[in-house]
Amino acid sequence: MRIIEVSDYKQMSEKAAQHVIGKVRSLDCMTLGLATGGTPQGLYGELIEDHHVNGTSYKGVKTFNLDEYIGLSKKDPNSYFQYMYTNLFSHIDISPDNTHIPSGTAADLGEECDRYENMMEEAGGIDLQILGIGANGHIGFNEPGTSFQSGTHIVELTPSTREANARYFSSLEEVPRKAITMGISSIMKSREILLLASGKSKQEALKKLMENEVSEHFPASILKEHPNVTIIADTDALKLI
Ligand code: F6R
Repeated sequence: MRIIEVSDYKQMSEKAAQHVIGKVRSLDCMTLGLATGGTPQGLYGELIEDHHVNGTSYKGVKTFNLDEYIGLSKKDPNSYFQYMYTNLFSHIDISPDNTHIPSGTAADLGEECDRYENMMEEAGGIDLQILGIGANGHIGFNEPGTSFQSGTHIVELTPSTREANARYFSSLEEVPRKAITMGISSIMKSREILLLASGKSKQEALKKLMENEVSEHFPASILKEHPNVTIIADTDALKLI
């Protein structure tokens, strides 16, 4: 794992954007794995600005998002579908047909998991996966204890994850209890992974990631076994390392 230390959130976002833009510009077509949450919002802002100023085109880009809440429709302002359209897709020239987000309202969720996994495979796999990290080491919504062999599956969110995400809802009660997420093995199949982390709240997680053994108790630890992972983190997040 390569670590790039930057001074703050803005620099983390800029550095990550340079990397993504470089890839998008160098490949005629590529598949990007995307995350939601607070961490990549700045990155998406930088991509939008670059698209407007420098004309980087996303016509040859396919995207696959990591996860979606179960029970939230595409129209729900807290769905990751809405997040992606508000924070990125509606501001760049990507074709909606090329964007993929698992459905949290599919009638048969097991079938939806298989469909999503197959679509990623048919697209030839993910060239570059963007990740954030949860305080408990989750990547995607793979909570501690998730099998490293898992493909896309349904998860029960832990109380700490629901509490961390309650800031987007009007109450903790409203935060869904389940989500559909790419599995650890889906994420590990990506050819390259960029993990972003900013701020004090990520200090413990990054320390554990660097120091703990590889274990399903701390899902992100598996990244140590991936051949091409870059962590872009700011000084605050790296303080304990
Ligand atoms: C989001 C996701 C999660 C987040 C993680 C950190 O699609 O898969 O793993 O990356 O919960 O969230 P933030 O960035 O809000 O601290």
